Amino acid sequence: MKKELDYIDLIRTRHSTRDYDQHTLTDADRTQIMEAVASAVPLGSTVRLEWKIADRSIMGCSGLVYAKCGSSHDELAEYGYQGEQIVLALLAREWGTCWYGMVRMPGSPCSITVGKPAARRVRSVVMGALSRGHMRKSLEQLVTGGIPEHSSPLVRTVLESARLAPSAINRQVWSFEVTSDTQIVIKGDAGRFPDLGICLANAMVTARQLAGKATVSRLNEGTYSISW
Ligand SMILES: Cc1cc2nc3c(=O)[nH]c(=O)nc-3n(C[C@H](O)[C@H](O)[C@H](O)COP(=O)(O)O)c2cc1C
Repeated sequence: MKKELDYIDLIRTRHSTRDYDQHTLTDADRTQIMEAVASAVPLGSTVRLEWKIADRSIMGCSGLVYAKCGSSHDELAEYGYQGEQIVLALLAREWGTCWYGMVRMPGSPCSITVGKPAARRVRSVVMGALSRGHMRKSLEQLVTGGIPEHSSPLVRTVLESARLAPSAINRQVWSFEVTSDTQIVIKGDAGRFPDLGICLANAMVTARQLAGKATVSRLNEGTYSISW
């Protein structure tokens, strides 16, 4: 039987990996990576993404996971949404990953490095410090109108997962709103980055794990609801 992933734990322990052991991907590794890709559910039905593995060694990783994708808000949201689910599924299989915007594969907004994590070296400690990767805005800063006093633990856990999402230069360009005890709204404008979709993915997998189901709906460009 397929084991359900503990997404909440994965989200709370995930951080970008920028140091990798030297390792050439085997056929079994590629199968495992493509299984992680296959586990990602799409956000909408209109954008099709064909994820691939490129044999590139950015920061010493074993490969880059990427897909061709347009640059509209909706396309970028889809990219981040699927990509972050892939990141979490890879983490569950003990792969290290880092979203990577500095090197773009042709037709792709950014890629995801993947490889076997190694002990941290000076450069990655510096990169992590520069992007203040371990810092996040507080929920007080992010939730418009605050969290209603009698909100269920589930609402708070979904918000916390959304808060912990990674973003380019750790900008966290999103805001949240609690619209009922079974729905939150996430808004964001990440420019040319897929950050909003990444945040939506964290919220969706958390709601789905705790409530057994979750629906993400596009309200308008840059605004989505997650209900369960
Ligand atoms: C779309 C995107 C692009 C990113 N590009 C880079 C990059 O080019 N180089 C890098 O070192 N980190 C990059 N990151 C990683 C972020 O700096 C990192 O996720 C953020 O600082 C939070 O840290 P954490 O992932 O360790 O929690 C990127 C992240 C995202 C979401």
